[in-house]
Amino acid sequence: MLLDLIENRKSVREYLDKDIPKEDLKKILKAGYLAPSWMNSQPWKFILVQNQETKNILSELSGNQPHVKNAAALIVCIADKNGWSKEEFGEVLAARGIGESGREKIFSIPMFYPVLLGDDKVLLRSVEQVTYAVSYMMLEAKELGIDSCIIGAISNEATVIKPEIYKKANEILNLKDGQVIITIITLGYAKEKTPTNKIRKDFNTVVFSEKIGNNIE
Ligand SMILES: Cc1cc2nc3c(=O)[nH]c(=O)nc-3n(C[C@H](O)[C@H](O)[C@H](O)COP(=O)(O)O)c2cc1C
Repeated sequence: MLLDLIENRKSVREYLDKDIPKEDLKKILKAGYLAPSWMNSQPWKFILVQNQETKNILSELSGNQPHVKNAAALIVCIADKNGWSKEEFGEVLAARGIGESGREKIFSIPMFYPVLLGDDKVLLRSVEQVTYAVSYMMLEAKELGIDSCIIGAISNEATVIKPEIYKKANEILNLKDGQVIITIITLGYAKEKTPTNKIRKDFNTVVFSEKIGNNIE
């Protein structure tokens, strides 16, 4: 059951020195590639990183988090603001059978076309999409017996604390303008198999029926 997988998943930060089969890495990437997105916009890129030098740079980007350089592989998840251009977004809309006049209509409505609301909203909407793909990849990894950790503490456009290393990471990953590193997923096999210890807020303080205050029976 998927819920069992979810209950048994936990962030793992220490890995065995063991490679992940390429076929499994491809399955994980495919899970992200197939994730849902707003009007199928897919404003994202996913980069598999196995090169140690690149891992070291990305570890530096994450404030030297050791699991970033010690993971067997990383998936760098990029919000691609270019995915909202009329050309690129238009292409996916056309593939859904939306004709030119339908596309022009969409491009004129702020709720459907965040470009009309400014760069911040485009980034926000792009990040929103990427997070779904991250969850899909993390769960597919777990299904394959591969542990992971999401790395969100990184220097990027929103939190530029180390501009030099950010520039270096952008260059080494061959990122274009408008492509922003949002999340790094570390992947590997856990060094120690310890039970999950889910520390969460009380269920009834988070989940409600009909309105805040009414708990689920
Ligand atoms: C958006 C996001 C960013 C995160 N950033 C980091 C990070 O930079 N480094 C890290 O070790 N863990 C990071 N985590 C992992 C969380 O600390 C972890 O998911 C949380 O403590 C719950 O533990 P669990 O995943 O084992 O259930 C991040 C998780 C999310 C969802």
